[in-house]
Amino acid sequence: MKKVASGISPLIAIDRALRKPLHRQIYDAYRGAIVGHSLRAGDRVPSTRLLASDLGISRIPILNAYAQLQAEGYFETRVGAGTIVSASLPDQMVAVRPSRTGAAFPNHRGVRRLSKQSEALPLGESPLRRGPGAFSVNQIAVDQFPFQIWNSLVVRHCRRASMNSLNYGNPMGLSELCGAIATYLRTARGVRCEPEQIMIVSGSQQGLEIATRVLLDRGDSVWMEEPGYSLARSVFAFHGCQILPVPVDGEGLNVAAGIKIGRSARAALVTPSHQHPLGVTMSASRRLQLLQWAESSGSWILEDDYDSEYRYESMPIASLQGLDANARVIYIGTFSKVLFPSLRLGYLVIPQDLVARFRAARVAIDLNPPVFSQSVLADFIHEGHFSRHLRRMRILYGERSRAMVRAIRDELGPAAEITGGDAGMNLSITLKGIDDQAIADEAARQNLWLVPLSSSYLRRPGRQGFILGFGNVPVEQIQGAVRKLISTINRAGA
Ligand SMILES: Cc1ncc(COP(=O)(O)O)c(C=O)c1O
Repeated sequence: MKKVASGISPLIAIDRALRKPLHRQIYDAYRGAIVGHSLRAGDRVPSTRLLASDLGISRIPILNAYAQLQAEGYFETRVGAGTIVSASLPDQMVAVRPSRTGAAFPNHRGVRRLSKQSEALPLGESPLRRGPGAFSVNQIAVDQFPFQIWNSLVVRHCRRASMNSLNYGNPMGLSELCGAIATYLRTARGVRCEPEQIMIVSGSQQGLEIATRVLLDRGDSVWMEEPGYSLARSVFAFHGCQILPVPVDGEGLNVAAGIKIGRSARAALVTPSHQHPLGVTMSASRRLQLLQWAESSGSWILEDDYDSEYRYESMPIASLQGLDANARVIYIGTFSKVLFPSLRLGYLVIPQDLVARFRAARVAIDLNPPVFSQSVLADFIHEGHFSRHLRRMRILYGERSRAMVRAIRDELGPAAEITGGDAGMNLSITLKGIDDQAIADEAARQNLWLVPLSSSYLRRPGRQGFILGFGNVPVEQIQGAVRKLISTINRAGA
């Protein structure tokens, strides 16, 4: 026989001392919950047997209360679903109308004080959460992910559940995964590290958050690339840090300009392998200057190496961390681009002497990273699937990037300056005489998701153009997508 899913028992306070009979107390509790909109049409209620056991009373008063609620139209029974709150409750039964979000809010009076940090954050949807399509940034080629292999590893770890895998985990992360990442980083990225320096985090965003909490105080100033990664700005703003925008040129962050703007900044956040969003690679001399500045001013360097696994026209560029002789660099990496972003797994490489501090911060924040997904990923890497997937994707994204650059050149000619197509999953185009935000708004109405380049600048207006993703668009669709982009630009500019 098909098992009917059990409903959740509502808060019913049975009081035997009251003169009100038990069936009436149950009836009133349910009716109150439905009228107050905490129980909604379609919600499942527990069987009379389960509720009797939860409340520690006999079934008779519950049967009576349910019969009454059914007779009055509050409950209905459905074959296979048990008893549910009526799907067609008349309006007059629901005294408090829900708000647009469905919740019934109490009214509030007076000033509601929040932290200054939370008020410093932009409201609205995450800029990374856009629809699919030709230009959506950071979108992976979903159909190319080896789901069969991934699924078999998920099943394997479900079957192997043990006390260890279900208990609280190591705040630094699963040792097998930290070991696999350390080997990969030493070999492929030139990072100097041992497994005990690796901390698993839920993506670069959390890595940056933890590093900021450990290294910076409110009011500290931080260099950020201008233009730069807007979500990193949110982390610093949330912590009450002062952001000093430092210009980026063809060699990456301009260190001399940074020193002029704020020599004594406590930290610098950089994307040296593939600057976000302009795509330039930081030159060797700038890397050395940055390390020298960090040493002389006692500052930290946060190296966000978010997409450097994918380089198409040259060998991968070694990390800045690998050049650091003074343990001033915190290296931040992510699996969002090489696997998929909803996985929310990334890592920090922490200087040896700071590991205990970072571990303590981790315990204070969320105890430990989720163990299950780490186990799956550790096997995925150990069994060679990770490196195979990387190799395949490097070829595929390289083809898509070249096709997009070609299409933009064909359709826009020298009007568009293209940067950053030689690595990662996005490129940028700069266009003169446009209003990129207005065009992006118009494009969104046609389900074309464009990120305006100007949104990467702290000091507006900045350069006008777009950050264009090429990860999730097959080569044969690219020319058409670029034509659609151009007609949108023309329409919005007309
Ligand atoms: C520069 C940069 N850093 C970090 C990230 C995000 O990484 P995660 O998903 O690991 O938080 C992105 C994502 O787009 C990015 O562009």
